[in-house]
Amino acid sequence: MPDLATIIQAALSERFGERLEVDAGLSGLDEIARVAAHRVHRRYLARDIAPDLMRLLCACALSAPSKSDLQQADILVVRDKVKTRAIADLLPEMPWIAETPVFLVFLANGRRLPQISKNRGKQFPNDHLDLFFNATVDAGILLAQFIRAAEAVGLGCCPISVIRDHAKVISEMLELPPKVIPVAGMCVGWPAEEGGITPRLPLDVTVHEERFTESGLAGKIDAYDRRRAATRPYRNQRDTARFGRSEFYGWSEDKARQYAVPLRGDFGAFVRSKNFNLD
Ligand SMILES: Cc1cc2nc3c(=O)[nH]c(=O)nc-3n(C[C@H](O)[C@H](O)[C@H](O)COP(=O)(O)O)c2cc1C
Repeated sequence: MPDLATIIQAALSERFGERLEVDAGLSGLDEIARVAAHRVHRRYLARDIAPDLMRLLCACALSAPSKSDLQQADILVVRDKVKTRAIADLLPEMPWIAETPVFLVFLANGRRLPQISKNRGKQFPNDHLDLFFNATVDAGILLAQFIRAAEAVGLGCCPISVIRDHAKVISEMLELPPKVIPVAGMCVGWPAEEGGITPRLPLDVTVHEERFTESGLAGKIDAYDRRRAATRPYRNQRDTARFGRSEFYGWSEDKARQYAVPLRGDFGAFVRSKNFNLD
């Protein structure tokens, strides 16, 4: 069995195409190894997750840092099969939603703070974009911390942002009040398969030392496309009727095709309809 430092190096080399130095004397290498080996899981065993375990994981997620200690993100735990089936039916392209024993929804809650101000007899002159932004960022942090805790106990997760394709319907279905919006859903279950590491852009594209730089970006993305295709090639090309078939189909071609169609252009209107002020 290789030591933890070697395991971490192997995972990160697969992820970033770079050999990182890992000091074998560092503490917490078991946790680093898990973080480095992260992967989403989209297939689950038909096995429930005990409510006590879910509560523990929610508590760990909610132990994440929170902007100004404002605590503006919540988790909705959905076990009701009628509800998860209704959500899954809206998103047939993602059959893993129907398979998940528990479906979570990470919520941006811009409602509690103005309520507190009112209860404390104070004005609330901060109903603007920053309220929305802080609550959504907190929800994203919560989501990431939930995944970290869940993966530590052997669970697998898959965030589901496509619920925002049906934000209004799902909000109504979940009876979300004004100023509470779904940031992302999440499938969580006991993994039915091991899954694999998805390569990321190289660190010299996404980590900027001292100053922001984009030097050689096109070439670096091209190299990433090739590295990624060697281990995780796309099975299907997107929208061939419109774009034809590419001889080489990499990540950047896939993402460019994905974003060549308008997506969720009505999301701002939805957020405004939930009484968030985006100015
Ligand atoms: C905010 C967020 C939303 C996501 N939404 C979806 C989704 O709707 N459906 C899905 O299958 N995966 C979704 N994912 C999972 C990503 O596709 C996945 O993280 C990415 O492909 C990288 O894979 P990895 O997490 O295994 O490294 C989402 C991930 C995040 C962070």
